[in-house]
Amino acid sequence: KETNRRDFIGYSFAAVAAVGGAASLVGMKQAWDPLPSVLAGGFTTVDLASIKAGEPETFVWRGKPVFVLKKTAEMEKSERDLIVGADRYIIAIGLCTHLGCIPAWSKNMWKCACHGGEYDANAKNTFGPPPRPLDVPPFKIDGSTIVLGETGPEYNTI
Ligand code: FES
Repeated sequence: KETNRRDFIGYSFAAVAAVGGAASLVGMKQAWDPLPSVLAGGFTTVDLASIKAGEPETFVWRGKPVFVLKKTAEMEKSERDLIVGADRYIIAIGLCTHLGCIPAWSKNMWKCACHGGEYDANAKNTFGPPPRPLDVPPFKIDGSTIVLGETGPEYNTI
């Protein structure tokens, strides 16, 4: 997979160089086709070092919002924590598990404005109609970077 990803980046640069050449782009399309990460809808890389504790960031993966929270020392531990060095992260698809609205972060929880659903900092549903925690997207960890949409070895838990 690592090799495929590098190839994909290489092809992207090649495509930029080939602007205006429709025939070349058809060739590019064929070159892209066998790459599983592209067939699956692509991937998004997130540099965890850029996230501030207690201030979750939202990234877009396959058109969906993905929340990445670096936990503060005060936040309760969870079996779903991604541990990188001394830091803990929560990674969650940012769509309410009730009917799919995008919850907003406020006072250490995600609140869904549609019907009042709430999720704690572990993305666990704690109030209102959501039937389950926010979903976990597939991702792999690569040093201090996560790659959404690719799967890797199980990540560390408590
Ligand atoms: Fe979020 Fe209904 S969609 S509470």
